[in-house]
Amino acid sequence: MVDLVLPVTHFLLLLLLICYDPTTSSTVAGGEVPFYEDCDPDTAGGTYAQNSTYRSNLAALAAELVKNSTGYGSAAGSFGAAPDAVYGVALCRGDSTGAYCSEHLGQVFDDVMNRSSPGSPGSRSRCVLHKNVSLYYDRFQLRLSDRDFVSGYGNEPEWPLNNTNLVNSSVAGRFREHVAELLNATAADAAQQPDRYGTGDSWFQEESTMVYALLQCTRDMAPGRCLACLRRIISEMPRMLDASQFGGRVLGVRCLLRYEMASNSFFHIDNRTLHLQKQPNPKAWPWAVIVAVAGVAAWLMWRDGRWHELIDRCLGDGGRHGASIKRCVQVALLCVQEDAEDRPAMDDVVKMLINEQAILPEPGQSAYFNIRPSAGAGADAPSSACSISISMITPR
Ligand SMILES: *[C@@H]1O[C@H](CO)[C@@H](O)[C@H](O)[C@H]1NC(C)=O
Ligand SMILES: *[C@@H]1O[C@H](CO)[C@@H](O)[C@H](O)[C@H]1NC(C)=O
Ligand SMILES: *[C@@H]1O[C@H](CO)[C@@H](O)[C@H](O)[C@H]1NC(C)=O
Ligand SMILES: *[C@@H]1O[C@H](CO)[C@@H](O)[C@H](O)[C@H]1NC(C)=O
Ligand SMILES: *[C@@H]1O[C@H](CO)[C@@H](O)[C@H](O)[C@H]1NC(C)=O
Ligand SMILES: *[C@@H]1O[C@H](CO)[C@@H](O)[C@H](O)[C@H]1NC(C)=O
Ligand SMILES: *[C@@H]1O[C@H](CO)[C@@H](O)[C@H](O)[C@H]1NC(C)=O
Ligand SMILES: *[C@@H]1O[C@H](CO)[C@@H](O)[C@H](O)[C@H]1NC(C)=O
Repeated sequence: MVDLVLPVTHFLLLLLLICYDPTTSSTVAGGEVPFYEDCDPDTAGGTYAQNSTYRSNLAALAAELVKNSTGYGSAAGSFGAAPDAVYGVALCRGDSTGAYCSEHLGQVFDDVMNRSSPGSPGSRSRCVLHKNVSLYYDRFQLRLSDRDFVSGYGNEPEWPLNNTNLVNSSVAGRFREHVAELLNATAADAAQQPDRYGTGDSWFQEESTMVYALLQCTRDMAPGRCLACLRRIISEMPRMLDASQFGGRVLGVRCLLRYEMASNSFFHIDNRTLHLQKQPNPKAWPWAVIVAVAGVAAWLMWRDGRWHELIDRCLGDGGRHGASIKRCVQVALLCVQEDAEDRPAMDDVVKMLINEQAILPEPGQSAYFNIRPSAGAGADAPSSACSISISMITPR
């Protein structure tokens, strides 16, 4: 007989995790609005004809940019010779590569390269047939030009985005430091990754929320160059963003950053995600150890030194496992104490169960068993009052 005592919050969290699928949260590129769109100048020299050499060079470059971004998260290169050479850099966020990337980047190229017939909904982009194009969306971005902006690794245009909510001014200073440390550590990690993509999270105790960070460079940047680019945009944040904002982004052609204070991450957490400050274990957890002690008198019997009676009647004979069973019962009772502050943290429970020598504190009155036994309960309690089950399950 096992009572499941899963706190509702954990259950909700589980549901959220199951429901959160980054690939379904936005529409196709055509329906998505870019955060940043710059296609000037709209002059004769700034555009190309549909049947031009420039466009065929661009089509060839586009195919390679989409292919490489789909596979590796980003791509940079050129195609053709002057005066029809085309330069391009494309990027898909590290957790949005694959089919998502090829579909959305492909659609952006369609939008900018194909002039649709008048009145057709085809060309939504005002960048269509422009040479100098910068388009930054949420999870993918593109920059094209007839000038070589690629070999210099310049990050222009850089574009900040604010989350306009501010943290309480009493903790703003600590929040800025917290964000800076998280960005700094995640930058160092991102620069070392083959795809130059890094994510991290860190618990901000003052507001009891997690802060998430994502940083990425194009993968053709050597680790040192990538790190320098990221450190520079981090250091320029005070100029572009107020870092006591709940969140912010600095988007650039070559490197970008984003942080958010939120209850759910905006990126896909994987086994590379750094966890800087962990959320302290909630004390009221009955989470990894599911304890059900259905005997009304369990705690009272413990207090009276008659714990073995519980065991005897339930298992027949505490016998040679008596000490271990006693230990488990004691840990179980510690976990369900009335006062949540007294309950041991998860790490401590594991230590208590693993290390048979560890001294255990005496359990206080149980929260779940504070019903007074009726007179006579105890030595001759009915057998229905006598079921103990303690089971360990491992966290997912
Ligand atoms: C491109 O098409 C236009 C008509 O749309 C035509 O006048 C021009 O000669 C074509 N140019 C090339 C290089 O084919
Ligand atoms: C695409 O990836 C291949 C293999 O890594 C590389 O040789 C090529 O230069 C890349 N092209 C672009 C445009 O990124
Ligand atoms: C746009 O042009 C590309 C390359 O020529 C082509 O593959 C694609 O089908 C076109 N898309 C539309 C919507 O016309
Ligand atoms: C191209 O656009 C960028 C901004 O997106 C601008 O800084 C640059 O001067 C433009 N280049 C030309 C040749 O117009
Ligand atoms: C900011 O924090 C102070 C001290 O913790 C608190 O008194 C105040 O109500 C908070 N203000 C807001 C807007 O949350
Ligand atoms: C940023 O991280 C580097 C190590 O990666 C460290 O040396 C430096 O002190 C950190 N700076 C800040 C402001 O945390
Ligand atoms: C973002 O925040 C900075 C710093 O507070 C401010 O200068 C800038 O105007 C804000 N930008 C937007 C778009 O709100
Ligand atoms: C991380 O997960 C990927 C699969 O998503 C796996 O290929 C890789 O080996 C894992 N790395 C580590 C260090 O666990």
